[in-house]
Amino acid sequence: MAKILVTGGAGFIGSNFIHYFHQNHPEDIIYNLDALTYAGNLENLKDLENSDRYKFFHGDITDVALVNDLFERGEFETVVHFAAESHVDRSILDPSTFIKTNVLGTQVLLNAALKTGVKRFHHISTDEVFGAIEQGEDRKFNENTNYAPNSPYAASKAGSDHLVRAYGKTYNLEYTISNCSNNFGPYMFPEKLIPLAITNLLEGKKVPIYGKGDQSRDWLYVEDHARAIEAILEKGKSGETYCVGGMTEEITNLEVVKLICGLLGKNPEQNIEFVTDRLGHDFKYVVDWSKIKNELGFEPKYSFNEWLEKTVEWYKNNQSWWQNVKNGSYQEYYKQQYGPKK
Ligand code: NAD
Ligand code: DAU
Repeated sequence: MAKILVTGGAGFIGSNFIHYFHQNHPEDIIYNLDALTYAGNLENLKDLENSDRYKFFHGDITDVALVNDLFERGEFETVVHFAAESHVDRSILDPSTFIKTNVLGTQVLLNAALKTGVKRFHHISTDEVFGAIEQGEDRKFNENTNYAPNSPYAASKAGSDHLVRAYGKTYNLEYTISNCSNNFGPYMFPEKLIPLAITNLLEGKKVPIYGKGDQSRDWLYVEDHARAIEAILEKGKSGETYCVGGMTEEITNLEVVKLICGLLGKNPEQNIEFVTDRLGHDFKYVVDWSKIKNELGFEPKYSFNEWLEKTVEWYKNNQSWWQNVKNGSYQEYYKQQYGPKK
């Protein structure tokens, strides 16, 4: 039995990864270290609560003593590091927690991994570290693209990527990094475009679109991301980075929201509102995933339109999940982000 530590496993992608891995790797034990910030939710993993192959630890990755103690007792072979502050708009409102968790927290984990002989540290990163593809520019991000992060979030993720690589070069820590595009699917926190649009429409509210809505993203169904990580853990080479992206034909934010309106029988004209643009808004992301395809045999299998429809169904069928999430501090954030500016 191998022991795998997942950080941030109570969040959107982490919990989907744990579900996928638990089902497909009955030989492994999964440990989940999560601080349960506003984005962490143990409801996402309720079905695994009684599994003897899954254990939850409540704790912050920036807590050196806690992390060191967990690593010493855990003797993990593998770490898959998702824990992060992940929402660009929140990083614009206040970058400080992003630097603390994403940069410092990653370094605390790297030290503990090194000290306890972890055999593979897999770092989950983002295509946002590469900056933006501008209007009229015809290129894709790949493993050789220069780093040019634009938001405090992207800059903090870039910092963490550099630290991981430095621990590999300097101390010979065995690591891999993946830089992935926009995920979507179940358990996605309704602050991000797709779940925000679905849940607002289900509540009879309008969907806020930044600027003209002509920006575009490279959408990947979250289970494909889990499969990509599995391929990297099984076949990836230590010291390598892999870019992971979706199968989207280029689609603007406005088109995505119109599709969602269509799936929910809502008229876009009456249910969309154009709001002040995001500061420093990246225009476009497109990922070239040929390296992971050619070297590890991974390619995305879930098409955008079909899985967007299934995602809309999931939110329709799990209203209490997102209604609970949208209570309390979410309302404060929503007012700050979308309410009248002082
Ligand atoms: P999320 O915000 O849904 O979840 C983050 C999780 O990390 C939460 O469970 C939270 O409680 C936990 N966490 C936050 N700070 C912590 C701390 N200090 N200590 C321990 N746990 C902490 O995020 P997500 O969308 O699931 O993203 C997961 C990872 O994937 C992040 O590293 C993100 O940068 C990366 N990523 C996300 C996307 C995307 O589209 N969402 C795309 C590419 C990469
Ligand atoms: O590219 C990977 C990244 O994708 C991840 O690293 C981040 O963790 C994840 O949050 C995501 O970042 P984005 O900023 O691309 O995702 P978001 O869902 O916030 O926004 C998607 C697009 O929709 C973006 O162009 C901004 C726009 N948008 C977003 C919101 C929340 C709106 O027009 N209105 C909104 O209310």
